[in-house]
Amino acid sequence: MDKFSQFASEVDFSKTSFQIALVSIAFNPTFWNIAARVEYKTHLLTKLALGKPKLGCYLLAIIIFSIGLLRDFLYEKALSEQPVSTLLLTPYAKALGALSFGFGNILVLSSMYKLGITGTYLGDYFGILMDDRVTDFPFNVTNNPMYNGSFLCFLGTALWYGKPAGIFASAFVHVMYSIALKFEEPFTAKIYALRDAKKE
Ligand SMILES: *[C@@H]1O[C@H](CO)[C@@H](O)[C@H](O)[C@H]1NC(C)=O
Ligand SMILES: *[C@@H]1O[C@H](CO)[C@@H](O)[C@H](O)[C@H]1NC(C)=O
Repeated sequence: MDKFSQFASEVDFSKTSFQIALVSIAFNPTFWNIAARVEYKTHLLTKLALGKPKLGCYLLAIIIFSIGLLRDFLYEKALSEQPVSTLLLTPYAKALGALSFGFGNILVLSSMYKLGITGTYLGDYFGILMDDRVTDFPFNVTNNPMYNGSFLCFLGTALWYGKPAGIFASAFVHVMYSIALKFEEPFTAKIYALRDAKKE
């Protein structure tokens, strides 16, 4: 058996825990994109938050953060029931996993620190815009440190535990984030263009 086939055969798709983790991975970015669009069109969350956009955004932040924790938990649980690959039982895979997880966390945490809560959790859909685009680290390394960082954390975990299923799940995370970005980037650009047009 070649290495790729061996790898693929070591992903156990029949495990319910794995299927649930994949659903959760697909659900999260879909949910926050829909919630943000609904807010933009109807101000539903702002209304729920007594007419205060900032409070509405905090509400969304708490929900997104919580479903993120749930997803991480489901992912770890799913991995614990998946086979380990002998191909990944090397110190290199473990070291790469640690690096990936560490750097991923640096990207996520530094971008949250730079953007603040409303900047991180879709505040622009609530009309809470940043004054200027953040251009220093981590935004000088990637335009999407949150998504890139989160992906690297998934991948790092998979490598650390030596689980091909985790690598598959990470690839799926990548696909879901790429789809989310196709919706988010033009929308954010539009919101800021509208703001800048009003300023002039
Ligand atoms: C990004 O900015 C940081 C300082 O904020 C700097 O240390 C780093 O070298 C920069 N990286 C790139 C790729 O420009
Ligand atoms: C990482 O960021 C780049 C550029 O910003 C983006 O094209 C890519 O899809 C991102 N990758 C993931 C896994 O989110």
